[in-house]
Amino acid sequence: MSKSLLHHGYNKVARILGRTDSKKQNFPVLEDHPVGQELAKEAVEAHGTIQSNIKKLMKEFKIYRWSPDHPNNKRYLESYIIDLSNCGPMVLDLLQKIKAEDDPSLSYRRSCREGICGSCAMNIDGTKTAACLKPIDPDTSRPTIITPLPHMFVIKDLVVDLTNFYQQYKLIEPWLKTRKAPEDGREYRQSPADRKKLDGLYECILCACCTTSCPPQLCSMLIDGSLTGKMFITSN
Ligand code: SF4
Ligand code: FES
Repeated sequence: MSKSLLHHGYNKVARILGRTDSKKQNFPVLEDHPVGQELAKEAVEAHGTIQSNIKKLMKEFKIYRWSPDHPNNKRYLESYIIDLSNCGPMVLDLLQKIKAEDDPSLSYRRSCREGICGSCAMNIDGTKTAACLKPIDPDTSRPTIITPLPHMFVIKDLVVDLTNFYQQYKLIEPWLKTRKAPEDGREYRQSPADRKKLDGLYECILCACCTTSCPPQLCSMLIDGSLTGKMFITSN
């Protein structure tokens, strides 16, 4: 999906938040991206539920904490009680709010906030996903638990060490190769038809969610360090 598509989709969600029946909303700019459509609808519906529960807007979030500044301290889940009525719809919005208003020491990665950089991947209520694409669970009767990607070394809080992941990615050599030199001796030209052949093969954003989720692959990593995950398939 292109950057602009998701960007417009996100803005569309933001624009319609708070309006009428969210289930009838459609997102024309995301019509070629069914997953994006579903996530956008889910975000709007979740926000609608929050608004209809106007007296129960406080929700607890339990977030994994550990700092290398205190290496002997045990890792723990820190509890934050957040008012969802003035928070954006996605989990990344929640983290931004906590960091800006409650606890600047909370660490996590993020960059694009629209599902294209892969840096905000984490474990949210047991699901490995990008925080900027994950709508906040509006059920205020239970806490949402946010932890780092599993089976990785933690650098601080929700930030994990991806060195091994990138080394494995480099081994894949995930770029197009040709047996012939370019005809003009200067550059390789790609026809629209050839470009279309890449659809479905290049979309990996290197979030590492697949790599950290796959038990057989993890065994492989432990045995010979060859773990690559699904990104091997989508990037090669
Ligand atoms: S293939 Fe894996 S690393 Fe790539 S976007 Fe999907 S879950 Fe993330
Ligand atoms: S911030 Fe880039 S994918 Fe979430």
